Amino acid sequence: MNKNLMDSFGRRIDYLRLSVTDRCDLRCTYCIPRGFKGFEEPGNWLTFDEIERLVFVFAGLGVNKVRLTGGEPLLRRGLPRLAARLSNIDGINDLSLSTNGTQLARHAASLRKAGVARINVSLDSLDRSRFQRIAGRDALPHILEGLQEAKAARFELVKINMVAMRGVNDDEIENMVMFCMEHGFTLRLIEAMPMGDTGRSARYLDLQPVRRRLQARFGLVDGVMPGGGPARYLQTTDGQFKVGFITPISQHFCATCNRVRLAVDGTLHLCLGQEHQHRLQPLLRGGATDIELEQAVRSAIVAKPERHDFRNRPQKIVRFMSSLGG
Ligand code: GTP
Ligand code: 5AD
Ligand code: SF4
Repeated sequence: MNKNLMDSFGRRIDYLRLSVTDRCDLRCTYCIPRGFKGFEEPGNWLTFDEIERLVFVFAGLGVNKVRLTGGEPLLRRGLPRLAARLSNIDGINDLSLSTNGTQLARHAASLRKAGVARINVSLDSLDRSRFQRIAGRDALPHILEGLQEAKAARFELVKINMVAMRGVNDDEIENMVMFCMEHGFTLRLIEAMPMGDTGRSARYLDLQPVRRRLQARFGLVDGVMPGGGPARYLQTTDGQFKVGFITPISQHFCATCNRVRLAVDGTLHLCLGQEHQHRLQPLLRGGATDIELEQAVRSAIVAKPERHDFRNRPQKIVRFMSSLGG
């Protein structure tokens, strides 16, 4: 039997985004609302044993890439231990992490040692007080220190994620390009998505004109990034620097979607921009066999929607980005 996970639009699902906590130590304006209290109860968090078991099941279905996300994944105690367990699973050959960087200085070396190959770090501004306004905390120096440690730990790839917002940080895009060129980081510019009231009130910036502007200013050509993903890339002619554009609003990429998401409570979400989901926790805690878990995942994938509706129905998604980690 073909073990690959195929959805009903012929897309092969080989990438799992695993949210290990819905908590975060920042409060980015477009993400978690200040004063938010609705976090998941610890008793509902999948344990490391449960996560490992599920990833084993997914690996048996042809998933070979796993990204650890949050909230902020480094707030989950013992994360490098979990990373080591996951990178040892047969078939998982690309383990990565998306982090806000506040705790990265402390954990970079142990994450690398645990088999994390690539990391993505959110960074919306290089100006300390502006960063504080956007993220709700004066954390820029810690993040810059984290990036230094990440360089020292020699990850295969370090990407900087910048949510570009009109009148908020769009005047810093060129600066961010130069910062990333200098340090050997790949930059990704992201369009704000209308997830929750926070995401909806973000100052959306269409990245198509920005792409043309950067192309001309830095002499960039079309680029490719092995492994795909939602970003479309430009690069310098020597290939040393790449900048990716994640444009769910101005030019969506759903036709090539290869991913599903697991929330911290074990709910499988089939699309970031839709509500289609399937709870795996009752099976995990109710004595299901691996075969039953496999069947549950396989039948859930059939319901993966064709695409998000961020443009036509921006009010649709009530949860905000941190609950699933993007
Ligand atoms: P790699 O390409 O593997 O480096 O990772 P990534 O870009 O998919 O992951 P990352 O966690 O860095 O996410 C960057 C941005 O892309 C975030 O704003 C995510 O919400 C967004 N993103 C990731 N996957 C999807 C997707 O399937 N749909 C949409 N609309 N956005 C996505
Ligand atoms: N729209 C787009 N990106 C978002 N992120 C968080 N909320 C939003 C949103 N509403 C980004 C973070 C991080 C990535 C995982 O998701 O900045 O880089
Ligand atoms: Fe896939 Fe949904 Fe993302 Fe579109 S928004 S690329 S369908 S997960």
